[in-house]
Amino acid sequence: MSLGVHGVNKSFGGLRVVDDVSFQVQAAELTGLIGPNGAGKSTLFAVISGFQPADAGCVRFDGHEIQRLSAAARARLGIARTFQVPRPFAHLTVRENLLTGARDQPGEHVFNLLCRPGVVRQRERQIVARADAMLEFLGLTRVAGERAGALSGGQQKLLELGRALMTEPRFILLDEPYAGVNPVLIEEIERRIRTLSEQGTGFLIVEHNLPALARLAARLLVMDRGRLIASGTPAQVLADRAVQEAYIGGGP
Ligand SMILES: Nc1ncnc2c1ncn2[C@@H]1O[C@H](COP(=O)(O)OP(=O)(O)OP(=O)(O)O)[C@@H](O)[C@H]1O
Ligand SMILES: [Mg+2]
Repeated sequence: MSLGVHGVNKSFGGLRVVDDVSFQVQAAELTGLIGPNGAGKSTLFAVISGFQPADAGCVRFDGHEIQRLSAAARARLGIARTFQVPRPFAHLTVRENLLTGARDQPGEHVFNLLCRPGVVRQRERQIVARADAMLEFLGLTRVAGERAGALSGGQQKLLELGRALMTEPRFILLDEPYAGVNPVLIEEIERRIRTLSEQGTGFLIVEHNLPALARLAARLLVMDRGRLIASGTPAQVLADRAVQEAYIGGGP
């Protein structure tokens, strides 16, 4: 399974924020996307996941062009994303937020509700069990009944991750999953991501915590001012002069 970005451009008001970016990510190779603030990473995520249209270029998932599909259609194909700034349903509880993230809810179909209530109940039980396991894993059980809008920033990041995982994605784009999360939990999340990755889920992760990302990623892509400026193993990329200059703002 692979995700490909080919010649993608995206401008906002005349400013080219993503500038002719091309790369391919294999699910087997957990990949990080790094770069200084404003490099265009989140915008690229928005283009891949269908929240922003590209001005040019194409996005391929498993070899199929998906850039004309809606965000919902891409999610149904198995592409999940988290947002840099969490977007929970603020008035729903934490548990309800996870439940709404689940895919294939048979009760959504009137036929199932009326004619196959047993199937609906069984699947609903599975979804509730999955949500409870997710709460446990993310350390959110204690706040399961609280409104999501009342959580701390770090807890909202965790809920965001949980909602994405509830969709049982095949490929997941994480935008700064560790921001505001305590170091102990970062290590637990890392283990969970590694397990999912080994089981075949693809990951592309934007993260400013470079040591944590370098531990996890087989490969890093680097963006600066809209362009892809480097890619390779974490060791190669972090030793790259152009990458170091981009981070200290001393690029050419
Ligand atoms: N919806 C928008 N409208 C106008 N400009 C935007 C929009 N979204 C992003 N930008 C601009 O595009 C540039 C890239 O932003 P983006 O959020 O993609 O960067 P980033 O690499 O994710 O940065 P950070 O590490 O700070 O999250 C910035 O200059 C930003 O101000
Ligand atoms: Mg961003």
